[in-house]
Amino acid sequence: MTPELLGFQLTHRAMRGDTRRLATLATELSEGRQSADQARAAAIAGFVTTLNQGIHHHHTMEDEVLWPVIERSAGAEVDLRDLSDDHADLDPLLEEINGQAAAFASTGDASALAKSLTRLADMLDEHIGEEEQLLFPIIEKYVSVADWQRVETAVRKGGNVRIDLPRIEQYARPDELARLRKLAGPPLTVMLFLFRRGHRRRQRLIFGPLAAS
Ligand SMILES: [Fe+2]
Repeated sequence: MTPELLGFQLTHRAMRGDTRRLATLATELSEGRQSADQARAAAIAGFVTTLNQGIHHHHTMEDEVLWPVIERSAGAEVDLRDLSDDHADLDPLLEEINGQAAAFASTGDASALAKSLTRLADMLDEHIGEEEQLLFPIIEKYVSVADWQRVETAVRKGGNVRIDLPRIEQYARPDELARLRKLAGPPLTVMLFLFRRGHRRRQRLIFGPLAAS
């Protein structure tokens, strides 16, 4: 038995995907190619802040729970310093973006937010790409299923299931979703049923009526 990395992979994909979509949206807003009334601006700012909280929580759990597990299991096989440095660089940018999202909601000017979100999307693409390439084979080779489950439980605990789960459903391919359903059983189906509608409503408000559901 090897650790099941699908949940982590989909969380990473949703983070990258949503950050990039928000960066594109903020750019279009700042260039006048889209407009936002107060309700839409507040929903965009709220989603940016929620996304940032999720990114912060995810890399904090990597630093505090996953890294010690990897160091204990794989020892000298892996050097985590570059990835930890990336995490330290991300935090001030997330803070800055939270301030810019609030400013956008009150002034309607998205130009600073657009620049920072684009920078964040670029950083996440690079960081997560490296992380998956470096760590996924190491985790599969050296980390026990029990340790991996402990990591996943810690990540889930501080997360926001109402927001996170429907995003995972949105970003999963059909075969991945089928695998996820098999792993998680009926509770996943029930939670997706409960949270899907609110998620789609928020997505339409934020990204427009044709937003991916
Ligand atoms: Fe990371």
